[in-house]
Amino acid sequence: MLDQPFPHRHLVAIGRLSRAEIELVLDTAEEYRAHIASGARRLTTLDGSTVVNLFFENSTRTRMSFEMAAQHLSAYVVNFDVGTSSIKKGESLRDTVETIEAAGANIIVIRHASSGTHEHVATFAKAAVINAGDGWHEHPTQALLDAFTIRRALGKVEGLSVTIVGDVLHSRVARSNVLCLTALGARVTVCGPSMFVPESFGEAYGVRVTNRLDEAIAGADVIYLLRIQAERQQTRRFPSVGEYRKLYGLNTAKLERANPDALVMHPGPVNRGVEISNSIMDRERTVIVDQVAHGVPVRMAVLKLLKSAQDGVAVQSVPEKPASELDDG
Ligand code: CP
Repeated sequence: MLDQPFPHRHLVAIGRLSRAEIELVLDTAEEYRAHIASGARRLTTLDGSTVVNLFFENSTRTRMSFEMAAQHLSAYVVNFDVGTSSIKKGESLRDTVETIEAAGANIIVIRHASSGTHEHVATFAKAAVINAGDGWHEHPTQALLDAFTIRRALGKVEGLSVTIVGDVLHSRVARSNVLCLTALGARVTVCGPSMFVPESFGEAYGVRVTNRLDEAIAGADVIYLLRIQAERQQTRRFPSVGEYRKLYGLNTAKLERANPDALVMHPGPVNRGVEISNSIMDRERTVIVDQVAHGVPVRMAVLKLLKSAQDGVAVQSVPEKPASELDDG
């Protein structure tokens, strides 16, 4: 797969990965997807390693799938409970991370409300640091699982037209996806009300910007809907939910005016009836459930590659040694 160790100790931002490195993650994830689908036993890749999930913000999908991914690879997994920890007594982030490391963590998966948290932690952490979402900045494993989902559904990412609709300004998912998809050769359009999609975003990220949904979704191969990030807005930035739904919510009637075969995606959690109607949720080409399922093999791939960097060993193909060999031996 790679005749050298993975060249990154941490996964902080998609922008740090080359196209070849992104493709290595996706190829490795494909091997893990097939391994899980075959019903095979857990693997020993992270045997003896400890993965700590340190989430300062709520999560269902990301935290659960990192936990499952680590367990598939035989790691010890600890879900650190911020709410009952000594952080509540004023312990700093640095002291918390160093305490977790002292207790034996090799890999720390962090979600935090402040953009740049992972850049900071990576300057002193001995463990591998994985960004599970930092403020408005990045959510790299979400972008990787989204690219993986597109590639599995449509066979490629290169040359596709992908439209991202909604609260782009406050979305770490949008930023990571724009970087990942353009690196893989997709053409990206971002669409939403101007308070959510500033004109400057187009120049900064090399994407097309429009405020018109019909224009944005015409001819799109993928329509990627975003949740309004109310928790990141000081004051409500648009007149009403009803108006947002009317202009930017996707329903069957609007989709019929676009490409009815387009993939519809959403990172979750979904506000049903706001950015997406129930009829769209139930449609065959809506792949939101697939995105969740692919979170596990993609995060297994990330864990494996960072372990290769940590150990200084070349990246091996899957399947590696199944845990049954250890159990039986
Ligand atoms: N997409 C995503 O990050 O979902 P969670 O907040 O549930 O982890």
